Amino acid sequence: MKTKHLIDLESLSTEELMEIIELANMIMDKPCDYADSCRGKILATLFYEPSTRTQMSFKTAMLRLGGSLIGFDNPQNSSVSKGESLKDTITVVGGYADIIAIRHQLEGTARAASLYSAAPIINAGDGGHLHPTQTLTDVVTLYNEKGTLDNMCIGLCGDLKNGRTVHSLIKTMSHFKGNRFVLISTPELSVPQYIKDIMNSSGCRHVEVPSLAEALPMLDVLYMTRIQRERFKSPEEYEKQKGVFVLDSEKMKLARKDMKILHPLPRVDEIAEEVDYDDRAKYFIQTVYGMYARMALILKMLENADRKPMPRRIDTHAVRCCNPNCITSVESYLPKIFRPLGGDMLQCKYCEGRTLI
Ligand code: CP
Repeated sequence: MKTKHLIDLESLSTEELMEIIELANMIMDKPCDYADSCRGKILATLFYEPSTRTQMSFKTAMLRLGGSLIGFDNPQNSSVSKGESLKDTITVVGGYADIIAIRHQLEGTARAASLYSAAPIINAGDGGHLHPTQTLTDVVTLYNEKGTLDNMCIGLCGDLKNGRTVHSLIKTMSHFKGNRFVLISTPELSVPQYIKDIMNSSGCRHVEVPSLAEALPMLDVLYMTRIQRERFKSPEEYEKQKGVFVLDSEKMKLARKDMKILHPLPRVDEIAEEVDYDDRAKYFIQTVYGMYARMALILKMLENADRKPMPRRIDTHAVRCCNPNCITSVESYLPKIFRPLGGDMLQCKYCEGRTLI
């Protein structure tokens, strides 16, 4: 892999992504061949936000590769609770570990961490922004369960605004040939404009529909998502959105016989328990594919990892990102860095939020 850090799957070429998928399948076929591949290596898992699958699958992946673990899953038990900055935590942990997986509630945190880490950083989810290793999980699942990553009609349903797994998956699947998207959400929870722009610029057809029943007959894949209660400003706003889209056995009668249901999990009430027994439900096997995907990713990232000890100082912009959920809103020393979008518009390099000059 050419990239040192994995912040966004966009930094991988399609060939590199396919190499990870193929390596995940090779590990799945013969796991004992890889049991000592990371002997002597240490993975740090820094989880500032709760997780079951991502945290445990990263840990299991490293243990199954013969490596060891350090880290925290509750920052209150670390010196973060004493006010230690992200920069200082990462600088220190980057000196202990060979590779770091970080999850944080603020958007752009993994990118910020990569500025200060001697060890490769993996984005394990940054607020409502991105979740690239969930997307690796999803593409390994699709490749094995559909036999292709091309020419699919992919429905995404639920919280498309805050669902970082949705954003990462659309970005990645837009690079494959002939994929189309059916976006099923309320108007309040539709996908952000920058994700629509990505679909438009890659020529991917997409349509927004308000009804799951209307969408189901068209789909090769249905990607269900939870309404992300923790991202709402008030409990009242969450209450208005929850329970709008529920997949049950009755609705599954409208779906194709070969449609596959994926879900990043956890689920709340958007898939009825009865659907678990439908052969088209792939969301539990998806979690197993995720462990092999992360084993492959760790191996690829450690293959050529360089350890440059100290970061260089980066020039800061006078403008501040106006996204209140951006990591720069809390860690004020971070250099403000933007890419120009034309006119008076800038895009924050951490959270991808747009700001006027
Ligand atoms: N899919 C996912 O990220 O699950 P966790 O939040 O449990 O890690």
